Amino acid sequence: MLPNWYTTYKDKVELQIEKYLDTYLSIPMGRPLDEFKEIVKYSVKWGKKLRAIFALEFYLTLSWKDIADIKWDDDIMKLCIAIELIHAFSLVHDDLPCMDDDDMRRGELTTWKKYWEYKALLAGDMLITLWFELLSDIKDAHISRELTKLITHSIWFYGMVGWQIEDMYYEEYMSDLDVDTLCKLHYKKTGKLIEASILWGIIVSEEKGNIDVFKDFGRKIGLAFQIKDDLLDVEWTAQEVGKSVGGEEKWFVYLCGVEHSRQKLHELITECWEMSKNLGSEKIDFLVEYVGKRRK
Ligand code: IPE
Ligand code: IPE
Ligand code: MG
Ligand code: MG
Repeated sequence: MLPNWYTTYKDKVELQIEKYLDTYLSIPMGRPLDEFKEIVKYSVKWGKKLRAIFALEFYLTLSWKDIADIKWDDDIMKLCIAIELIHAFSLVHDDLPCMDDDDMRRGELTTWKKYWEYKALLAGDMLITLWFELLSDIKDAHISRELTKLITHSIWFYGMVGWQIEDMYYEEYMSDLDVDTLCKLHYKKTGKLIEASILWGIIVSEEKGNIDVFKDFGRKIGLAFQIKDDLLDVEWTAQEVGKSVGGEEKWFVYLCGVEHSRQKLHELITECWEMSKNLGSEKIDFLVEYVGKRRK
């Protein structure tokens, strides 16, 4: 059961995404492009919006603000939208027949399954383009540059895209994989984007005193998130998780077994709690707990 504040944040993020897409894509374009706009919107719908919520709560905590103070055109809101667009692009492409060939995402049909493969590919391209647009709109040019670098580094060769190549490779050569390599892969796959979301929130709050501590926090909570994702694959059904599970056991569980994976997850969550305590935000404490306990 999610607390009310989480739902409030999520609703706000979802509303702003919708508003942004409606505004940005508002020019009447004729039938194929109007349908395409719906595909782009469909691709960002649902999901936990956890990365945006991390960014938002770190920003609010460090700048001593309340969610009610946040306006639609504030930089932090642009970032929350951009993060979720990036995340959505990664999922749309990940589900394609040439990658994971998945039919279900967030309890619904995957974009390609609902609308066709080439349209899903292009919807992903569109999402990438839109976040560049959002970042270029950040008021302070220096901050905009810093954020762009950070996010690029979470996706490029040494981030999510590089990981997808390695992921496909290790599907075939699983015996080459050891736990150390896997932790590095998980960092690239999921950790870097979650870490970047947290650092984005901090950078925009301009309260960067302990950024190295938060880097460590981001890295650990990202790894915890991914170990939990690997565990969900064996703990719950596709109906409960909202995406396909089972098949091959996911990496961490495959290499370490369920019990050891749970123990590693517990250790990481405890370490993150130790760090988050100093921030004095019950909401961040909750997010840490949620990463370890989530069922979706
Ligand atoms: C799923 O991420 C993809 C991974 C990185 C494992 P989420 O579990 O955050 O997906 P949504 O956005 O809530 O659907
Ligand atoms: C998808 O990874 C996550 C990213 C694209 C970063 P997976 O293929 O392992 O995750 P699911 O099971 O489809 O969400
Ligand atoms: Mg995949
Ligand atoms: Mg997948």
